[in-house]
Amino acid sequence: MSLCYHIVTYGCQMNVHDSEVMAGLLEAQGYFPAPSLEEADVIVLNTCCVRETAEERILGRLAELGRLRRRNPNLIVVLAGCLGQQEGTVERLRRRSAPVDVLMGTHNLHRLPDLVEEARRTRDLREGGPLVEVWPDGLAQTRELREGLPARRDRGVRAWVTIMYGCDNFCSYCIVPYVRGRERSRLPEDIVREVEDLASRGYREVVLLGQNVNSYGKDLDLGPGRSFSALLRRLDRVPGLARLRYTTSHPKDFTEDIIAVVSESEHVCENFHLPAQAGSDRILRLMNRGYTRKQYLDLLDRIRRHVPNAAITTDLIVGFPGETDEDFRDTLALVREARFASAFMFAYSPRRGTPAATLPDQVPHEVKLARLHRLIEIQNEVSLEQNRAEVGRVLSVLVEGPAEKDPGRSAGRTRTNKLVLLKAPEPPEDLVGQEVPVLIERATTWVLEGRAVT
Ligand code: SAH
Ligand code: SF4
Ligand code: F3S
Repeated sequence: MSLCYHIVTYGCQMNVHDSEVMAGLLEAQGYFPAPSLEEADVIVLNTCCVRETAEERILGRLAELGRLRRRNPNLIVVLAGCLGQQEGTVERLRRRSAPVDVLMGTHNLHRLPDLVEEARRTRDLREGGPLVEVWPDGLAQTRELREGLPARRDRGVRAWVTIMYGCDNFCSYCIVPYVRGRERSRLPEDIVREVEDLASRGYREVVLLGQNVNSYGKDLDLGPGRSFSALLRRLDRVPGLARLRYTTSHPKDFTEDIIAVVSESEHVCENFHLPAQAGSDRILRLMNRGYTRKQYLDLLDRIRRHVPNAAITTDLIVGFPGETDEDFRDTLALVREARFASAFMFAYSPRRGTPAATLPDQVPHEVKLARLHRLIEIQNEVSLEQNRAEVGRVLSVLVEGPAEKDPGRSAGRTRTNKLVLLKAPEPPEDLVGQEVPVLIERATTWVLEGRAVT
């Protein structure tokens, strides 16, 4: 009898790619993807704990899975990822009698198949409690653990490649350094080999992943010239690759050499995701971000001088402890001045164990929500303005497939990562993976529309 698995992914791209690895590991053991959640023998929740809302959604989902397990007593439920790694999760699961058979963290993905087997064998001995295996960060330092794991990627145009793990920045609000551990870079030759392999299998776009890709290589002692920008230059030469992206980069060490690579390379895209987080110097300092508002805006100037068609995107947090109306107005002003193409915007969520969670003057929930709505309103105006400026231009669009709501049209992205719906003489299926020049005819806040030109 063949066994089926289903993986539910929460959180960032890092988790999306970890899920591909977990799928690869299970398939190497003979598992098949389950046609539906109900038919799965193993369900993995690959979790996120960056904000309280993420945690709540996961705990709600677990309650639903309890019903599935009553119907299928052999079902194994695995909680993996950042919430698994976070301190105190076992106790919380026990308090809620959550139906979890395996609790694992971010450092022992490769143990998934064995843990599932062990959970099956020991089910009667565990009295309903989960089998727990969470590795401390130190155990994950050996490089062997990070190479050679199979990934089962979705077929498509874009592939994700992790170039470094962890984060050493300790922004005062953020849980990520605690659940992902210290920075560890993969060797350049391992990355190049993986990207070459992906390109030869038909992937046209590769996104390099790390919490702070500009720190790439700092822990490797690779010598001069073996930095993140050197890696980009090397990958730019991989045959068959149309586009190269990376996320996320930190404004504090976004160096001139990276700007130079983008302006000189053929495939590295003109999209700069530079989380600003706030527009007030006082708040930036409390956040431990390592730059001032002026330094941030100067960086954008330098980027735009060297890469005139750059699209700059960002992340912003409102309601950080002690944020006054005036601080918040500084963030609104930054949004207008920086002219972001788009932004991810969040209400501050206190995370246990982070310095900001214990700061005085936590901002009331309603104030945070009101500020968030106001901020989204302003940013939407700016996004629309930026998109309207594209009308009349011809942009190169890498086609990904038929548009979701209009299968007669193709959907793809510009080099600046804007979504485009386009009409073309060829059916969308024939254009997948091709770069098509598109005349932009219409713009809304989130989408550009146009037609293929030759
Ligand atoms: N390493 C990346 C982002 C990681 S988390 C970077 O530094 O850019 C993604 C985003 O979530 C962050 O940029 C931040 O805007 C937001 N975030 C992180 N912790 C948060 C918290 N406690 N409350 C609200 N938003 C948070
Ligand atoms: Fe979190 Fe800051 Fe690291 Fe990003 S750079 S993951 S916000 S600590
Ligand atoms: Fe969430 Fe972990 Fe990513 S906390 S944002 S899934 S690194």
